[in-house]
Amino acid sequence: MRQLNELLENNRAWAAEATRRDPDFFARLARQQSPEYLWIGCSDSRVPANDIVGLLPGELFVHRNVANVVLHTDLNCLSVVQFAVDELRVRHIIVCGHYGCGGVLAALRGDRLGLVDNWLRPIQDVRRKYQAELDALPDESARHQRLCELNVLEQVRNLGHTTVVRDAWARCQSLTLHGWIYDIADGLLRKLGICVTSEDELR
Ligand code: CO
Repeated sequence: MRQLNELLENNRAWAAEATRRDPDFFARLARQQSPEYLWIGCSDSRVPANDIVGLLPGELFVHRNVANVVLHTDLNCLSVVQFAVDELRVRHIIVCGHYGCGGVLAALRGDRLGLVDNWLRPIQDVRRKYQAELDALPDESARHQRLCELNVLEQVRNLGHTTVVRDAWARCQSLTLHGWIYDIADGLLRKLGICVTSEDELR
């Protein structure tokens, strides 16, 4: 109980501080949200989306799941993308992975963790697709880091192939897909050299 009370106390202090800085802050947010960015990231507690990029409530629409996977059969993720693109009209979607991702490591090793194994199957497919590149790396740590990066690139591609994103591009809506990776060890984001603004670029 004590710990949960702590959370509620933290919340009151946070809300008071936000109101002190900007008395209209919550009233304005209550009226509407108009984020420019959709963040698709890992559920990992060490990768808090808003904090990393210094954005306030109302500025970042967020979807997180284990190992930042974008699946064409995942109604949850697709619904978030559809609402963000069609209704909120976000201009950028950032798929952000992170080094040291436990989900990616489990997929790399083929570990049996339970139900989540099924969720991680698509990352095993990524591993198989790039098996030769991964095998050429010196050790498991290097393979793990690289698979974290490759997973982001694959998920950006998956995102670009969704009907939601393709329809947005077809009607000339400005929408850019980005692939980034976050390093838990230094708190820094790195671009992965993928930035897609049209179906042509995706190819
Ligand atoms: Co992770």
